[in-house]
Amino acid sequence: MAAIDIRLDDADATETFGRHLSACWQAGAVIFLHGDLGAGKTTLVRGYLRGLGHQGPVKSPTYTLVEPYQTDLGNLYHLDLYRLSDPEELEWIGIRDLFDGESICLIEWPQRGEGMLPEPDVQICLTVEGVGRRLMLEACTIRGERITRCLEQDMSVTLNMKYRYLED
Ligand SMILES: Nc1ncnc2c1ncn2[C@@H]1O[C@H](COP(=O)(O)OP(=O)(O)O)[C@@H](O)[C@H]1O
Ligand SMILES: [Mg+2]
Repeated sequence: MAAIDIRLDDADATETFGRHLSACWQAGAVIFLHGDLGAGKTTLVRGYLRGLGHQGPVKSPTYTLVEPYQTDLGNLYHLDLYRLSDPEELEWIGIRDLFDGESICLIEWPQRGEGMLPEPDVQICLTVEGVGRRLMLEACTIRGERITRCLEQDMSVTLNMKYRYLED
């Protein structure tokens, strides 16, 4: 499966990466965002939404768990499961309806919803490295593979970042 491992020097780079990811949009994509508090997950989602034409604020839905958006390309759900104490609680917000094969789902703290979430198409892991961040992305499905290949082509020289493509 395709993978990407890059350095994001500042918050702008994280947002720009999010835009690139949105340009490689695929209907029904489920994207997991791993990383500690402050790693840049919401910043990436903000870039993703900006890329799809969303102008308004983008805040992590820490208390509401899910924030729905209408974008140029259809529904997008931004989930932040940090405050989830029991994955069963996801039943109450009608979690199953979100994974409809059309809507995009970007999920922060997916490990807290284990058992209630589908397999992701793409997993992203952000870690703090110095003042910047390291981003590792991994395709997990054919759809994720398409997204990753597209990303690879789309962003090659744009950002001031090291770009490494791993293939096995
Ligand atoms: N690549 C980066 N380098 C430095 N700071 C970043 C980077 N990406 C995001 N940030 C900053 O990190 C802080 C936390 O970002 P946020 O997206 O809210 O994190 P999370 O959602 O993972 O908790 C913000 O101040 C944001 O501007
Ligand atoms: Mg967040």
